Amino acid sequence: MAKARLNKKSMVLCLAICFGLCFVSVFAELQRFEHPTKGGGILSFLVLGDWGRQGDFNQSEVAYQMGIVGGKLDVDFVVSTGDNFYDDGLKGEHDPAFVDSYVNIYTAKSLQKQWYSVLGNHDYRGDAEAQLSPFLRTIDGRWLCQRSFIVNAEIADLFFVDTTPFVRDYFDEPENHVYDWRGVTPVETYTTNILNDLESALRESAAKWKIVVGHHAIRSVGHHGDTKELVDRLLPILQANNADLYMNGHDHCLEHISDDSSPIQFLTSGAGSKAWRGDLKEMNKQGLKFFYDGQGFMSVKLSQTDMESVFYDVFGSVLHRWTTSKQLHSAI
Ligand SMILES: *[C@@H]1O[C@H](CO)[C@@H](O)[C@H](O)[C@H]1NC(C)=O
Repeated sequence: MAKARLNKKSMVLCLAICFGLCFVSVFAELQRFEHPTKGGGILSFLVLGDWGRQGDFNQSEVAYQMGIVGGKLDVDFVVSTGDNFYDDGLKGEHDPAFVDSYVNIYTAKSLQKQWYSVLGNHDYRGDAEAQLSPFLRTIDGRWLCQRSFIVNAEIADLFFVDTTPFVRDYFDEPENHVYDWRGVTPVETYTTNILNDLESALRESAAKWKIVVGHHAIRSVGHHGDTKELVDRLLPILQANNADLYMNGHDHCLEHISDDSSPIQFLTSGAGSKAWRGDLKEMNKQGLKFFYDGQGFMSVKLSQTDMESVFYDVFGSVLHRWTTSKQLHSAI
């Protein structure tokens, strides 16, 4: 009798676990990290992209100025928009490029904060999984790179999107490059799942500011221009769910473009090392507010009511400043 009851109990437990597992796999949500806004209610961070070149092409100069600006703003974290290691990502967890192009470059005290990174197309040309590995955090605890994830920073939610698998050219015309597609195939299912998860996360976000980060631009006047797949599939989700910013790298420049049919601002920070001087696709784009084809980086500072984004060059000089305000929530 007692035995039978036990069996029944364990069967129920088994069913519950199975159901739980199914539930998790069907409704796989994006991983979330909590990074509460510090006392005083100000959140600030730096944004850098397309950087890892052993300090060359002004990477070290940019890093030095990031340290100064990071100290002035007392930044909470650093966002990397991808193409973290050139030319072909990391060869593995033990690739010395991690130390030579990251650990030994961003050495300023103010930059000893959490870094949140996505992968770029160049990262996919190496061992993409190596960059995601917790092993790298044993070398440098600042490093955190995931494919798609969310950072809940209280007054802002940041949504990181793995954009490389969206771009069909990498599959159709690989130009002799080998990409590490482990974990992202079948790619149609993979990208659709990201968009579904992103859409519900954006919809449910109660944060004052919603910031989306990817490697590829939605809008850009630089070498690569707009990313068609993101314009078609990602942009409508951002517009429908009141995203404030879309931040990216990929084009090796700094730029600011306003969306023509929503409040979204497109900010490119892809100038962490080698810049593409004079490499422009279309200069007279609607909504273009700023473009710079040298090296530099960006900062973002947020309160409940105000946002300020600033672009800096390799000397730390301010190139462009943009501010916007929102009313405090009125009681609903
Ligand atoms: C480094 O930055 C300076 C100032 O913008 C620029 O003149 C120089 O060409 C840059 N060097 C490289 C290798 O890009």
